Amino acid sequence: MSIKIEKAETMKQKPESKEIPFGQVFTDHMFVMDYEEGKGWYDPRVIPYAPITLDPAAMIFHYGQTVFEGMKAYRTKDGETLMFRPDKNMERLNKSNRRMSIPEIDEERVLEYVKQLVEVDKEWVPEFEGTSLYIRPFIISTEANLAVAPSQSYKLMIILSPVGPYFAGGMKPVRIKVEDEFTRAVKGGTGAAKTAGNYSAAYRAQANAKKEGHADVLWLDGVEKRYIEEVGSMNIFFKIDGKVITPALSGSILEGVTRMSVLELLKDWDIPVEERKISIAELYQYYEEGKLEEAFGAGTAAVISPVGRLDWLGNTMTINGEEVGPLAKRLYDEITGIQLGVREDAKGWSVKI
Ligand code: COI
Repeated sequence: MSIKIEKAETMKQKPESKEIPFGQVFTDHMFVMDYEEGKGWYDPRVIPYAPITLDPAAMIFHYGQTVFEGMKAYRTKDGETLMFRPDKNMERLNKSNRRMSIPEIDEERVLEYVKQLVEVDKEWVPEFEGTSLYIRPFIISTEANLAVAPSQSYKLMIILSPVGPYFAGGMKPVRIKVEDEFTRAVKGGTGAAKTAGNYSAAYRAQANAKKEGHADVLWLDGVEKRYIEEVGSMNIFFKIDGKVITPALSGSILEGVTRMSVLELLKDWDIPVEERKISIAELYQYYEEGKLEEAFGAGTAAVISPVGRLDWLGNTMTINGEEVGPLAKRLYDEITGIQLGVREDAKGWSVKI
């Protein structure tokens, strides 16, 4: 499956240490493919990374018909490049496409394009501890038309960004505010899709939380504001009295690939785990009873991020003395170990490029 590759004439400076801010540095090339109704997806190409031109009436600007993915490539100590369960991201991209009325992609083919782009820019996969090459495939609606209806044309693009930890400080427990005013998503809405509006709808709440020293917010269900959903940048897990509880996928929670991997590992390790509805009041009760042992988030960007403190309506839950808990550490070591090719990959999660 060869595609057109146009190499950049000048190459940019690559990061020289592990202090790489998340999502601000981009590689020398990008992938683009177009879609037109009646013609399908066509003209896959790798070209120099550069701004693109769109008609001001392009539908993406007006009604936000767009989807994206987040995946990572890692440099092993033998100099190989590995990706983590990329087939799951392709599957999810199509789930998001279906929800957002965007034409589906050929998952295997697009995964090949991802690999080809990473191959072209493989020198950009950073080798410093805690770093990786973040891969951002996304699709935008490009038809110039103000009618409120699905676009007849799209662009699928893939950009690459060498990154350090998503939360500054790396594997350091973060403080999270339980959001009591705003709503991220409701059942039947787009919360389970990876689409732009879910993220920008969170900005107001995040900005308020950041003013109070929180790294992010924990969302509750949009109807009753009782049940715990997710953080937005990651899914959430709690270790309570020896058992791990994570909110069941409700239709408004993103199906994280790291979430799925954590659940599989916990089952392998015979750690009791429940995917179920859990209310914030129930969590607080466990906290008061001294049963809330650990809390942590899981996501592609966040990997495993311990939560050291949760603030909910004036109640503070300080978890594990705001230290990294043993289960979060074990999961982090196992997942990053597989990602970096230093632990046995019994499940075949790593894909070599
Ligand atoms: C990811 O983990 O890949 C995401 O898309 C989360 C985003 C907020 C960076």
